[in-house]
Amino acid sequence: TSIVAVVPAAGIGSRMQADRPKQYLTIGSQTILEHTLLKLAAHPAISRVVVALSPIDQYFSQLSLQNAPWLTIVDGGESRAESVNNALVELAGNEWALVHDAARPCVNSSDISRLIERTEADDFGGGILATPVRDTMKRASADAANPVVLKTEKRDNLWHALTPQLFRADKLREALASALRAGAVVTDEASAMEFAGYTVELIDSDPANIKITRPADLPLAQFYLQQSR
Ligand code: C5P
Repeated sequence: TSIVAVVPAAGIGSRMQADRPKQYLTIGSQTILEHTLLKLAAHPAISRVVVALSPIDQYFSQLSLQNAPWLTIVDGGESRAESVNNALVELAGNEWALVHDAARPCVNSSDISRLIERTEADDFGGGILATPVRDTMKRASADAANPVVLKTEKRDNLWHALTPQLFRADKLREALASALRAGAVVTDEASAMEFAGYTVELIDSDPANIKITRPADLPLAQFYLQQSR
């Protein structure tokens, strides 16, 4: 099987309160984006990587990676879904697209392997890394300033959806297009596939596979990255 990694990296990361998009903050000697791209490229089952960058990106050209032979750069879009869609154009229809957040450098390669190994099963239509919810989950009122609990959700079968998320490139393109047309909420690739009626498998991930979102996530990511060396 040929697996192509697709990395949406065209966001601005506003919750990070930094002077640049979060994927360009450094941990150790490399940017978060470099950690992520190199981790994917080093995986033996991944043949190449397509990264979606903002059309006005000013940072990528300063990285040593920009001429890597395994890397293709495309323009990102207004939303994550559009960024992924633009990258999928570079893939053949029957290739597997392994979509992974730029902001998740701590993913470990054995988890990536367990997801990719599922493509050997005849009935595999797609799957994602995920981790079971640990805290009690509350449904809140819509008043963001003064939220109150409406109800307690059953935690038993709730999972956090992480990345990578692995689907056939042509199926994912169709699913993203129809979900966007229908105005469905598409915050990850799986939600578009679910909307199109596909079964999405959950592969239990190491919870260290965090999405760097807030300033406090940086030292945590640094710790996890050091551990995996
Ligand atoms: O904002 P959030 O953390 O959910 O973004 C997840 C990923 O999607 C990030 O890697 C971000 O760079 C990417 N993204 C994108 N194009 C957008 C918005 C987000 O590639 N328009």
